[in-house]
Amino acid sequence: MRDNQEYLSTHIGSLMEFSTHTSVSIHQVKTAALSVGIFTDGVLSPAADVIDRASNGAIRAVMKSEFTGKANSTLVLRALAGVAATRVVLVGLGKQAEYSARVHAKAEQAFATSCVQMRLTEATSTLVSIACPDTTVTDRARAAASSASDAVYFYDASFGKPDADARPKLKKFTLLVGRADQPAAELGLKQGAALGQGMSLARTLGNLPGNICTPTYLGETAKKLGRQFKSIKVSVLDRKQIEALGMGSFLSVSKGSDQPPRFIVMHYKGKAPAKAAAKAAAGPIVLVGKGITFDSGGVSIKPAATMDEMKFDMCGAASVLGTFHAIAQLELSAEVVGLIPTCENLINGSANKPGDVVTSMSGQTIEILNTDAEGRLILCDALTYAERFKPSAVVDIATLTGACVVALGAVNSGLFSKDDALAESLLKAGKQSGDPAWRMPLDDAYQEQLKSNFADMANIGGQPAGAVTAACFLSRYAKAYRWAHLDIAGTAWKGGANKGSTGRPVPLLFQFLLNQA
Ligand code: BES
Ligand code: MN
Ligand code: ZN
Repeated sequence: MRDNQEYLSTHIGSLMEFSTHTSVSIHQVKTAALSVGIFTDGVLSPAADVIDRASNGAIRAVMKSEFTGKANSTLVLRALAGVAATRVVLVGLGKQAEYSARVHAKAEQAFATSCVQMRLTEATSTLVSIACPDTTVTDRARAAASSASDAVYFYDASFGKPDADARPKLKKFTLLVGRADQPAAELGLKQGAALGQGMSLARTLGNLPGNICTPTYLGETAKKLGRQFKSIKVSVLDRKQIEALGMGSFLSVSKGSDQPPRFIVMHYKGKAPAKAAAKAAAGPIVLVGKGITFDSGGVSIKPAATMDEMKFDMCGAASVLGTFHAIAQLELSAEVVGLIPTCENLINGSANKPGDVVTSMSGQTIEILNTDAEGRLILCDALTYAERFKPSAVVDIATLTGACVVALGAVNSGLFSKDDALAESLLKAGKQSGDPAWRMPLDDAYQEQLKSNFADMANIGGQPAGAVTAACFLSRYAKAYRWAHLDIAGTAWKGGANKGSTGRPVPLLFQFLLNQA
């Protein structure tokens, strides 16, 4: 077995290089692959039109039959006469009237994926220059870089003999832009590259098996971030220190496992211009990530069929680590605190039992009616701990409920908040970054379902509105500040043949912080 942090080293820091290129004559650009966008109904993007004219109609010729411009489709044309690029990759953009930031991001991803499949090391995209509603050049360049990064993501950390030849070779990705757009595009590329690396870290942490990615491992990963970036101060609390804080609810979950728990505290401070300094006076934004490195359900044990996927139950924590990597790399001027309670939910002689009553750090007692509702039990103490930072806002991120998967599937994360302004800014960040969330209710009337005969509250609220009652439980610990909760149970990973972590909601969180700064 490889040594600990080596599992991460293959992806972090050695990713892609992004740059811009300005050229008046697109057909003279030397590159292994040049993307040009094509809409359905025979509409060529300006770059596609230039290439078509330079090559004596090579593009319009294939549009008669082979290529219709359907969104996400690609067609590779090689060795076009009059064109310097080795390959021209036609990328479908769908109907021009329906062109959107989402279609653009998907198109960049499809192009990068096709370059990866062709084993190319370098490629050039013209898609960023196509006007697109509600986006700036910076937005589109950011999307291009993060989409391309996502397309080259590759996991082989836990294979016996990683095949270096199987890894994507695409290392250089260039955006062709007009001279006036160059500074805006460069800025977007920097942001997108940072986001891409943050997502990659989050994905690899999610994908690593539970016997490697333990609470201790997450703690080590946080410390490594602290060594890599001077702007992040990290402390990792052990069981004794967690006990001293009185986190009885969190500790009750960790007791059922031989793996020791960790409570990770990260504090990022970017260099602050005057405006950001004023923001800092308003208190940091605190991100709280659920870090259950394996969720067996405990005594209320889960069925066996897809239990392996419960190694992904730390994807909230991974998204916080990934977001910290991204903002630190970008040197974002902001103050952000990351809190990660992390342990396993397992079963031994000391494990929680249905009917047990535990005392949280807040002093409120909880009757544990189902040991599988453990996420809220570790998050509640982290939410109480967050009070000491006098935060301007707290956002927790958790693979919290199967009910949220039933409600929203894999498209939207569930967003819960009583603060309309905070909710709106998170929804907006989700839309902008192609990592959407959908607002769910949080009415007080649902609180009644959490009534217990033996403690201040029960940890479950029964079958109806399971995602809402989970959020209601958390809300009882988040009264001291503006708070929002993201249930990412349906969006953080994919099951089935393409089983793996998605890196969501790093794009949403990163965009949210970018918009604040
Ligand atoms: N980690 C799970 C939530 C989950 C389940 C995410 C399936 C993705 C897919 C969480 O700890 C859990 O087990 N929640 C229970 C809560 C219930 C006992 C009230 C659930 O959703 O079944
Ligand atoms: Mn559970
Ligand atoms: Zn869980």
